[in-house]
Amino acid sequence: MCGLVGYIGNNAVEQTLLDGLKNLEYRGYDSAGIALNDNQNIDVFKAKGKLNNLTEVLSNRPKPAKNSMLGIGHIRWATHGKATTENAHPHLSNDGKLVLVHNGIIENYQQLRHELEAAGFVFHSQTDTETAVHAIDREYKKSQSLEQAVTAGIKLLEGAFAFCIMHKDEPDKIIAVRKNAPLIIGLGENENYIASDIPAIIGKVKNIIHLNDCELAIVEKNKVTVKSLDGQILNKEIEAIGFNPEVISKNGYKHFMLKEINEQPVIIRRMAQAHLPESGLPVCWGSKGCMLDLNRIKNISIIACGTSLHAAMYAKTLWEDWLQIPVHVEAASEYIYRANITNANSLVIGISQSGETADTITAVKQAKEKGAQILILTNREDSSIVRYADCTVPLNAGIEVSVAATKSYTAQLAALYWVGLYFAEQNKSLSASLLASLKQDLLELPAKMEEILSNQQAVQSLADKLKNFKDMVYIGRGINLTCAMEGALKLKEISYINANGYAAGELKHGPIALLDEQMPVMAVLGPGVTFAKMISNCEEAKARNAFVAAVLSEKAAVKESFFDAELRVPETNETTFPLLANIQLQLLAYYVADALGREVDQPRNLAKSVTVE
Ligand code: M6R
Repeated sequence: MCGLVGYIGNNAVEQTLLDGLKNLEYRGYDSAGIALNDNQNIDVFKAKGKLNNLTEVLSNRPKPAKNSMLGIGHIRWATHGKATTENAHPHLSNDGKLVLVHNGIIENYQQLRHELEAAGFVFHSQTDTETAVHAIDREYKKSQSLEQAVTAGIKLLEGAFAFCIMHKDEPDKIIAVRKNAPLIIGLGENENYIASDIPAIIGKVKNIIHLNDCELAIVEKNKVTVKSLDGQILNKEIEAIGFNPEVISKNGYKHFMLKEINEQPVIIRRMAQAHLPESGLPVCWGSKGCMLDLNRIKNISIIACGTSLHAAMYAKTLWEDWLQIPVHVEAASEYIYRANITNANSLVIGISQSGETADTITAVKQAKEKGAQILILTNREDSSIVRYADCTVPLNAGIEVSVAATKSYTAQLAALYWVGLYFAEQNKSLSASLLASLKQDLLELPAKMEEILSNQQAVQSLADKLKNFKDMVYIGRGINLTCAMEGALKLKEISYINANGYAAGELKHGPIALLDEQMPVMAVLGPGVTFAKMISNCEEAKARNAFVAAVLSEKAAVKESFFDAELRVPETNETTFPLLANIQLQLLAYYVADALGREVDQPRNLAKSVTVE
């Protein structure tokens, strides 16, 4: 959610921090700040709003007398305290010597603040973070050692945190420490970096160290020492960064979202080739193999949030049919606060693009404690959620910069498709011929996706017709219901048009009251048993004077001019249709939002990874 970066080295510290923050912008934020240490003073600069505002604050100040040697920076997504300059990070100690930036939430901040205020510390913000500065500063006053102060101070904090901390009197180091929030150290020559996510340091260093929970790194210009909180020096693995700088460039597209939508055929082709070498051959899990005990699985729960939850709903429909095993799907934020029936016979699947969604991580952790086997589907194999996995299915969709998930969603659907086929093959729940034809359907998808993307006129002209409506209804049935829900989510999150997805059969039980000429309906009409019923539901909507548009297969037979607008997709099977229809709905949301002049890649109030519960 928030993003942080730290730098110590010979490069221009201010610009290095701003570059890092710029590459974290995609995470969504409402204020930004940096602290610079020039070996004599710590100077803090903050601004509400976009990073440009901070850049302006910095360029309007008098030229500094000395170059900075080290610094820390932050972009904030407000949780505790409004998005104001005072609440923006970095936060300073009362003597102006200790400064820190923080990602996460300090849950016991109220009690701590009370205690610290009683001890004479003066607070200048409404944030939970400021309690950490004063708590660590109180320890510093005792030990006069930043390392010892941080070690003692953070033991008082409950919740999730990743910190970068500097002290004026120890200008040779930045301390980084984490618990339940991601943090990496970037290793350079005569310089080192700290970051909450790889894009902040992409192109700057080749190697990184991933910090684990309750590990503390003392980051100096020529040295990085990682310790446990009891002071043991740890021998950390040095890993190569698996991404090149191109992944965070728009490559000529107007927005990252459009670039990412267009990347989908390549991603699905790569995935299909890796797991379904040929329709007649068994599904190949991947080099690490499937580490699950499939004989133990009596029920499956899939836990996720937002778009990933829609992918989970797709899997439920698919898998209950293919596997004949009960599949339960639940929003992670609901799963964690009730007595669910997860046990050692459960396979719990966590789906998370970022792998950092706090609700999903907590849910998976709880399920693991109950003895369930854990399978994780994520686009970030280096993310926090993977720690709980018995087995991980990487999506390999590349870094997704746009806040609205597109390519990662399609990759989730495709991954759930081949994993479902793998399970079906193992428990022999489908005939060999059906398995082969289902595999073939997936193998043919990339070319069909390319066909959709090569002709975007119909969707652009529909976007033009829909852009001035205030509300919209999406309907679907069966395996296409999630497609309708995801289409509605995409439209609302980037265009701010109120859109909701409904089971088409449920329309007549309430939502139909909304329909009139001001409430357009987008129907998702896949092939299969629900097609005729969907047509009847569209008739019902037309009878209420609603503008009715549809996404449907190329050859789907409907009366001429039955729909007010049509988005056609190449012919495919019922189970793969959502992967094609979904692309049309992503494009529709994109073109509506762009026509309205919205900030497509960074919609208001949203963050790319939601690291708070
Ligand atoms: O990283 P995750 O898949 O766990 O994220 C879950 C949701 O926060 C995410 O899908 C969100 O709904 C996106 N804004 C959808 O576009």
